[in-house]
Amino acid sequence: MAALRQMLRAPPLQARARAWAGSLATSCLADRCLWDRLHAQPRPSSVPTFDWFFGYEEVKGFLLPLLQEGRVACPPRVLDVGCGTSGLCTGLYTQSPHPVDVLGVDFSPVAVAHMNSLLEGGQGQMPLSPGHPASHLCFRQADALNLRPVAPSGSFQLLLDKGTWDAVARGGLPGAHQMLLECLRVLSPQGTLIQFSDEDPDVRLPYLEQTCRSRTVTVQELGPFGGITYFAYLVKGAP
Ligand SMILES: C[S@@+](CC[C@H](N)C(=O)[O-])C[C@H]1O[C@@H](n2cnc3c(N)ncnc32)[C@H](O)[C@@H]1O
Repeated sequence: MAALRQMLRAPPLQARARAWAGSLATSCLADRCLWDRLHAQPRPSSVPTFDWFFGYEEVKGFLLPLLQEGRVACPPRVLDVGCGTSGLCTGLYTQSPHPVDVLGVDFSPVAVAHMNSLLEGGQGQMPLSPGHPASHLCFRQADALNLRPVAPSGSFQLLLDKGTWDAVARGGLPGAHQMLLECLRVLSPQGTLIQFSDEDPDVRLPYLEQTCRSRTVTVQELGPFGGITYFAYLVKGAP
């Protein structure tokens, strides 16, 4: 991950990056124990979330219109797969002017506990308030390779994956393939799956097109953020 190397160099993260660099260089990013350790790293109370690649502010202009697009459920259901301690779910919940029903899942209980405590007002913070009174947010522990305990088939209009497929793929393509199939299973027929990644379209697009044959796959360039260009891979159902 070029972005991972860049992120580890970014000045505000140097202290944590030094602690992470050793283990990440030799570890498998599909390993839950590694993620539990990373998510347990102390963070300043003024910065209660930590985002890979980029944060909510960078993509809100991209995400909010998607929530309005071809809406069949009100509020639309959004699933962030491998949410970690990212501010994507909390940003949508607190800032979307339209109602939105957001679920963040991660296989790390440490990340899920942190986000639930942030939502409920732990760590000396106020509880989070929705941007719309009908909006809803919760976090649950789940494995992206088997979302059945938290997500029935076809139940989400928008699926967000920021760096999770990339991490799972580090453990081997069979697991990553299983994760993508799970994402497609829980996506509603008209829904959209977005994989945010720094992986080049030459590599990612052929794989997505081959696996998501009944859907339309497109790519959009994002950034550069912190000097790195990212990609949003959109897998959409029939219009
Ligand atoms: C690169 S981080 C991205 C975190 C977050 N999406 C962000 O953008 O900041 C990958 C995340 O995927 C989670 N993860 C890795 N494998 C997973 C799996 N099999 N099921 C659920 N979560 C997983 C990790 O705990 C971690 O939070």
